[in-house]
Amino acid sequence: MATSYSARSRAIEPFHVMALLARANELQEAGHDVIHLEIGEPDFTTAAPIVAAGQAALAAGHTRYTAARGIPQLREAISGFYASRYGLTIDPGRILITPGGSGALLLASSLLVDPGKHWLLADPGYPCNRHFLRLVEGAAQLVPVGPESRYQLTPELVERYWNHDSVGALAASPANPTGTLLHKDELAALSAALKARGGHLVVDEIYHGLTYGVDASSVLEVDDEAFVLNSFSKYFGMTGWRLGWLVAPPEAVGDLEKLAQNLYISAPSMAQYAALACFEPATLEILEQRREEFARRRDYLLPALRDLGFRIAVEPEGAFYLYADISAFGGDAYAFCQHFIETEHVAITPGLDFGRHLASHHVRFAYTQNLERLQQAVERIARGLKSWRP
Ligand SMILES: Cc1ncc(COP(=O)(O)O)c(C=O)c1O
Repeated sequence: MATSYSARSRAIEPFHVMALLARANELQEAGHDVIHLEIGEPDFTTAAPIVAAGQAALAAGHTRYTAARGIPQLREAISGFYASRYGLTIDPGRILITPGGSGALLLASSLLVDPGKHWLLADPGYPCNRHFLRLVEGAAQLVPVGPESRYQLTPELVERYWNHDSVGALAASPANPTGTLLHKDELAALSAALKARGGHLVVDEIYHGLTYGVDASSVLEVDDEAFVLNSFSKYFGMTGWRLGWLVAPPEAVGDLEKLAQNLYISAPSMAQYAALACFEPATLEILEQRREEFARRRDYLLPALRDLGFRIAVEPEGAFYLYADISAFGGDAYAFCQHFIETEHVAITPGLDFGRHLASHHVRFAYTQNLERLQQAVERIARGLKSWRP
């Protein structure tokens, strides 16, 4: 019997890198040493104090549902983190704990998006954002961005792309795949452009904490009505625990709670108790050492790739990605990635996974491997460039 699944599910694209990853795994199983520069998660396992708190939570029987908003202790701890890191007073009542930043995106999309309504998103950008919009029957209005705006939305771009169906914009700072930030004045200008049109602003701040030589500003410093997505995945190194949060204006919280109850009931209980250890000084010290390690990797890989002829037009200030233009070598980015897997066993992500605009001549490198592995990767890439025939 022929099965017909939903148009929504057909419209959502898979990660193109998965096909490359499957090939990388085959090669690995055949005994080859594959260097993975395609992986969007820290290579460090969760810091020991967080793991210990998770184990203690399990032993204490924290294995049941929690309140849909999350446990009060964790919402208070996050509020305290906004006070110490940003000097901001955020009422814990405005914070909802979610299953990852992805859960926060699901909540925000479900609350803010009506069928057929448009949201402005930067292209290139994190692909799931537009897929979440599709899931709730909204539409992503992809805004081509390049080095001239450091790959970020600007008030001018909002002006140019806003139409009668537009209701908001979703930005990310630091962004995936480019690692660029929206600085405080830029966040304020973007917020003003949205407010002038009666639109909502959602900012994905899940790479906050992972910035190098600069502190990221939260949109909440300039706009108390914005929605903020955040996560324990990246800076806090808890990808597999599935934990994030959403900060929302007070009047939205009741509806968000209702959505959370229905969509997933609560974020994982033991992960919430484990995350209480994230804000202890001993843990923050470990996380800061890891941040310094990421900075060293960026400072090595960025000039090394530029020396090989990759064009990285904007110095990324955060996350753990380098988004590189391969035009100097010619050919299509997907084929380029295939070439490096097949010949040099180095896995990188093709631009196609981040949109359409610059996709066919860009690739993303994730520096989620240690310095030694990055050095080996650069040697292999240098060799692979010699055998690349576009
Ligand atoms: C920009 C961005 N937002 C959100 C997410 C979702 O992450 P998580 O659900 O693990 O918090 C990711 C993951 O890579 C991301 O890169």
